[in-house]
Amino acid sequence: MNTISDARKDFPMFSGDCPPIYFDNASTTFKPNCVIEAVIEYYKKYSVNFARGEYDLSYTVDEKVIEARKNIGNFINAFDEEIIFTGNTTDGINLVAFGYATKLLKKDDVILISEIEHASNLLPWIKVAKLTGCQIKCIPIKNGVLDIDGFKKMLDDRVKMVAINHISNVLGFVNPVKEICRLAHLVNAVVLIDGAQSVGHIPVDVKDINCDFMAFSGHKMCGPSGSGILYGKYDLLHKMEPIKFGGGSNVDYTVDFQYFLKNPPYKFESGTLPIESILGLSAAVNYIRNIGIDKIREYVFNLHKYTVTKMSAIEHLTIYNSNSDAGIITFNINGIFSQDAAKYFNSKGICLRSGQHCARLVNKYINVSSTLRASLYFYNTYDDVDRFIEVCKSATKENCIRYIFND
Ligand code: ALA
Repeated sequence: MNTISDARKDFPMFSGDCPPIYFDNASTTFKPNCVIEAVIEYYKKYSVNFARGEYDLSYTVDEKVIEARKNIGNFINAFDEEIIFTGNTTDGINLVAFGYATKLLKKDDVILISEIEHASNLLPWIKVAKLTGCQIKCIPIKNGVLDIDGFKKMLDDRVKMVAINHISNVLGFVNPVKEICRLAHLVNAVVLIDGAQSVGHIPVDVKDINCDFMAFSGHKMCGPSGSGILYGKYDLLHKMEPIKFGGGSNVDYTVDFQYFLKNPPYKFESGTLPIESILGLSAAVNYIRNIGIDKIREYVFNLHKYTVTKMSAIEHLTIYNSNSDAGIITFNINGIFSQDAAKYFNSKGICLRSGQHCARLVNKYINVSSTLRASLYFYNTYDDVDRFIEVCKSATKENCIRYIFND
């Protein structure tokens, strides 16, 4: 059984003399040894393709990938045939946008999104609207989350698709996705959830939420880059068409140029899969499961509260989401451009993200052009936070300007 208090020793990124204070976990997380070992084991022991060979090494990989699909599906309470391997959240959303929405949406249909979406859950829908003539409308935001009353008012039978995040990568509030799905289904709209910031951070049960699709990335939950998942209800996966074609996804094609695809999920998985990343993601799921997703959520929630309380006492800071539910703190040093401030924090060994965080429209909501973002995960400690707070105290406008001009 892994525990949160012991977790840091599992991460080689913390093993040096001067480990970073890494508060950019909403961007990507560090990887524990078991994930790194799963990747290396693939390369060292059974480095062959999946579902291609009739030899023992190939059977070994086949078994491991099948088992990984089951394991990852189980983590979000999905059946294995509802789990499509993608490269990341962006791939999953694009598959739904261009494999499902462009096929089924027509002129004057409506897609509901929000202003607090990441570019990955916004640009594909703009393109879908251009291709189909349907309209995009934004669900209002109240206190950092999707406003249910505003959402209800927008629902009618023209609404065919709702695409929203579970947790905004800038605001960090958990959206009422279960209620959104319930209401959307009353008008037969299909709901896609961007789970990039939620899966591996809070408990996620796709059957309980009753979403139609959910996309997420492995690298934001201790897994390798290049691993992503699109969950979809099986009947919808049958309706959805692939957006890439090639080997592995077909049962047959003929000299008169007909092709016949496999059943989902395989029809969406043309080309060699990122096998090592999939096996690494499955190891990440086991690692998180061993610690306990409820414990992770509670620890990060408390660490976040502790951090925000301390930050709130510093007059030269403005925090934009003090009471958010996840480990995301979006703030600014008053009078200092966020990227300059981030360089000051970097000079003190602290990794933050700065700018617009690939979610430009959120800035409209918080009415500021760019921000710093500290995003916490379970391997961050109270000691990390205390050191961060000392740097926050020293990050006055004067000190930041002095640092920028002397740098
Ligand atoms: N989506 C990632 C972030 O929020 C890259 O930083």
